[in-house]
Amino acid sequence: AIDINKLRDLTGAITMDPGYKNSGSCLSKITFLDGEEGILRYRGYSIEDLAEKAHFLEVSYLLIFGELPTAEQLQQYETDIRKYTLVNEEMKSIIDGFPKTAHPMGVLSALTSALTAFNPKAVNPDHPKELYESVCKIMGKFLVIATWTYRKSMGYPLNYYDNTKGYVENFMHLMFQLPTGPYTPDPIVINALDKLFILHADHEQNCSTSTVRMVGSSHAGLFASISAGVSALWGPLHGGANQAVLEMLEEIHQNGGDADKYMAKAKDKEDPFRLMGFGHRVYKNFDPRAKIIKKAADEVLSTLGVDDPILAIAKKLEDAALVDEYFISRKLYPNVDFYSGIIYRALGIPTDMFTVMFAIGRLPGWIAQWKEMRINKEPIGRPRQIYTGYPLRDFIPVDKR
Ligand code: ACO
Repeated sequence: AIDINKLRDLTGAITMDPGYKNSGSCLSKITFLDGEEGILRYRGYSIEDLAEKAHFLEVSYLLIFGELPTAEQLQQYETDIRKYTLVNEEMKSIIDGFPKTAHPMGVLSALTSALTAFNPKAVNPDHPKELYESVCKIMGKFLVIATWTYRKSMGYPLNYYDNTKGYVENFMHLMFQLPTGPYTPDPIVINALDKLFILHADHEQNCSTSTVRMVGSSHAGLFASISAGVSALWGPLHGGANQAVLEMLEEIHQNGGDADKYMAKAKDKEDPFRLMGFGHRVYKNFDPRAKIIKKAADEVLSTLGVDDPILAIAKKLEDAALVDEYFISRKLYPNVDFYSGIIYRALGIPTDMFTVMFAIGRLPGWIAQWKEMRINKEPIGRPRQIYTGYPLRDFIPVDKR
């Protein structure tokens, strides 16, 4: 086995690699990704198999603890998560401090950070029981507070976790259950959501995961590190792309559905516009998650009887990009976010909650990566730089400037 701390001795000169395009930051046993071949595996299991045959909580267990759970372990895990789904009542006053218009990702990041106030003891990653409890705690509470960001924005009363329902079903319950009557989502909806969460659950050293590992490398706690991950995910070049895709498709629709005009804009180097949902730092052939989601989007929309003009525009853009020299030469293909927003929209999830959906899915990956980083006793993350500023200058007193 390679000892990460020994690798430090091999480093000497500073390599300039903006965006860390070619820099490995860690050794990891969690997720395998081959961008050229379009392969994604969690702990050795193909994403196609997991999306088809497993459930989200099962996959979260696999990512965090390294193996698929037995039926007994899975049942215990679900029960233990349920134990922690009650959120401290004082958290509600924190939510009330936000204006209704606050973006749910900002509120989610703040609330996740606020959880540290009610769980002040930093989890010891070398203590399996303590670690397990913290994992169950964040898995339980994060789902609830994520949905509370939406309830707050709508001015609805906050809902509590329903112990008779599963984790993913609870997401819909927490979001949409109103005091006026029963709410029973279609099993197709739950199944599609489960799949989406699995597809988002980990993606090795992406921006938000690297952020979680970086923050955690200073030995900041698990919840604080996850809160930082939420902020990193928010940006439109990362998780925020799913919201940006839908906004872009809506704009194209409102402007007469002229997809070609937007294709031209995306290719114009004078125009900062990018075709959102296209391109990926690592996948340079196709994004295997996009393939699965595309199929799921078709299924959900046809089952729910949704005839969405936005989907037609998405297909037009995809078809046009597939034969366009600009997109072909730069290996720009639809990524996971291109279709996920269409499904979320069909499920009645508002656009500004899309990135929150991504965060719920990505949570197990963040936890697994934080845990691995701490258990491997990785050094604090601290990149170097090449200084390009002034050489030494004489100080000029303020009255002489
Ligand atoms: N539309 C138009 N042109 C693009 C796009 C796009 N979506 N993406 C990349 N390009 C072009 C760039 O302008 C650049 O062209 P050039 O070589 O002529 O200068 C070339 O393709 C390479 O682009 P980079 O920005 O260097 O690629 P990088 O790997 O750094 O970026 C990224 C990847 C950020 C995903 C980029 O493709 C992008 O901005 N896509 C749109 C946003 C998006 O969908 N993000 C979600 C990513 S998936 C995720 O986070 C879950």
